[in-house]
Amino acid sequence: MRARPGRREVVTPCKPMSSSPADSLADGQPADNQLANKSQAWSALFSEPMSELVKRYTASVDFDKRLWAADIQGSLAHADMLAAQGIIGADDLAAIQKGMAQIREEIASGRFEWKLDLEDVHLNIEARLTELVGLAGKRLHTGRSRNDQVATDVRLWLRGEIDTLVGLLGELQRVLVEQAERHADVILPGFTHLQVAQPVAFGHHLLAYVEMFARDAERLVDARKRVNRLPLGAAALAGTSYPLDRERVARTLGMEGVAQNSLDAVSDRDFAIEFSAAAALIMVHISRLSEELILWMSQAFGFIALPDRFCTGSSIMPQKKNPDVPELARGKSGRVVGHLMGLITLMKGQPLAYNKDNQEDKEPLFDTVDTLSDTLRIFAEMMAGLTVKPEAMERAALKGYATATDLADYLVKKGLAFRDAHEIVAHAVKTAQAQGIDLSALPLDALRQFDARIGQDVYEVLSLQGSLNARNILGGTAPAQVRAQVARHRERLGAAVAAKG
Ligand code: ARG
Repeated sequence: MRARPGRREVVTPCKPMSSSPADSLADGQPADNQLANKSQAWSALFSEPMSELVKRYTASVDFDKRLWAADIQGSLAHADMLAAQGIIGADDLAAIQKGMAQIREEIASGRFEWKLDLEDVHLNIEARLTELVGLAGKRLHTGRSRNDQVATDVRLWLRGEIDTLVGLLGELQRVLVEQAERHADVILPGFTHLQVAQPVAFGHHLLAYVEMFARDAERLVDARKRVNRLPLGAAALAGTSYPLDRERVARTLGMEGVAQNSLDAVSDRDFAIEFSAAAALIMVHISRLSEELILWMSQAFGFIALPDRFCTGSSIMPQKKNPDVPELARGKSGRVVGHLMGLITLMKGQPLAYNKDNQEDKEPLFDTVDTLSDTLRIFAEMMAGLTVKPEAMERAALKGYATATDLADYLVKKGLAFRDAHEIVAHAVKTAQAQGIDLSALPLDALRQFDARIGQDVYEVLSLQGSLNARNILGGTAPAQVRAQVARHRERLGAAVAAKG
C-alpha cells in the first residue's frame, strides 16, 4: 500500500493484487491498484490525510450499508450489460457474479467487514469484490459513477419498501373493514367541533379511515412509477462514452423506464420527497385515528377498550391503563412529517448536478420506512383487537340532541322552509334541555306546541336508529350503506391481493 506523504495509517489493508493502472474506479478518477485503501482512489491529488472527524462526518457506510442488496443487484445488471456489449469479457462477468454471490453470503451472514475508510456501501462492496476476483472487480465500475449508482440503489430499495407498505396498508384496511361490518349498526355520536352533531354508525366511522388508507395506498403506487426509473448510464453527470445499453439494464432490473437526462438522473431526489410526502400523509391519518382511540378510551368517553398488550400501566397510579401505542403513533407522525421537511429542504437550491448534500437523503428515508411499517403492522393488530362498547356510544349519542336535524328535516317534509324549521327545533331543544331530557322524551302535545304539524310518526324520526336509517344515500351512514361499502371494499381489497399474487 502506497501511503500519501505524512499520512497516518488508518485504513485496513487488503490483499495486494496485480495492478492495472488504466482501470477506472470511483467517479471516473484514475485508480490505484488498491481500492480497499479508499483514499488512494484519488490520492495523487491530495497532500494530507482526512482527520478522523472529517472521515466520520463524510462517511455514510454506517447507514447506507442497508442498501447492500440493491447495490449488488444494480451492479450485476450493469455487469451483465457490460458483457453483452463486449465492454468486459464473459470471464469478467462470471468472476463478478461469483464474487458478488460470495459477498451477498458474507453480508447476509454478518461476516462482511464494513470499513469506514471505504466511506460508503458502494466502495465497500467494490473493494471486497476486487479483493475476491481481482481485475474483473476493477472493471465493474466502467461507464458508471457512484452518482448514478447510488441513485439507482435508493430507487431499487425504495421500490421494494413501497410494495411492502402497500401490502401493510391493505392489511390494515381489511381489519378495519371487518370491524366496520361487525359494527354496522352500532351508533356513535358523530361530532363536528367535537360537539355532538348527528348519530353515525361506528362502522361508517371506521370506513372513513379505510377511505383515507385507500388513497394513501394509491399515492404510494403512483409514486412508485416515478421511483422505478433507471439512473445508471448517467455516470457522474454527463453520460458516458462507453456504448452502454441502458434499456437492457432497466429491463433486467424491472424498471419502467430510463432517466432521459443524465444531469437530472444523478441529482434529483424528488422521488424520495414524493414518497416522504405520501408517508407523512399516512402518519397524519394514523395520528387522527390515534387521537380518536385515545379520546374514546378515556373515562369521559368510555367507548372502547384496547387490548392490554397495547397499553401500559403507571408506576405510581395503580388504576391506570394508558393507550401508549396510539399516543406514540401520534408522536411519531411528527417525526415522519419532520423527515419530509428535512428532505425537501435538502433539495432546495441545489445546483445541478450531484452534490454531497444528497447523501443526507438516506437516514430520513430509512427512518420514514421503518416508522411507517412498524406503525402499520401494529395498528392492524391493535384494530383487530378493539373492544367496542355500544351502550356507552349510544348513551353519549342520546345526550347531545343528535337528532335535532332530523326533526327539522321532518318539518320540512311537512311543508316548512328549512330556516323556519331550524328555528322551531332550536326552541324545542331549549325546552328539552331545561327539563334535562332528550327530544324523543318530550310528549306529543309538548312537541305539537312548537308546530301543530308534528304527529306520532315523529318518534321514529327522533330515534337514533331512525336518524341513521334516514341517511340511506351513497356515502351516508345508514347501516345499509355501510354494508354496501363493506362489500365494495372487500371486492377491491381482494382484487388487489389477487393482482399482486
Ligand atoms: N455516499 C454517496 C451518497 O450517498 C454516494 C455518491 C458519492 N458520490 C460522490 N461523488 N462523492 O450520495
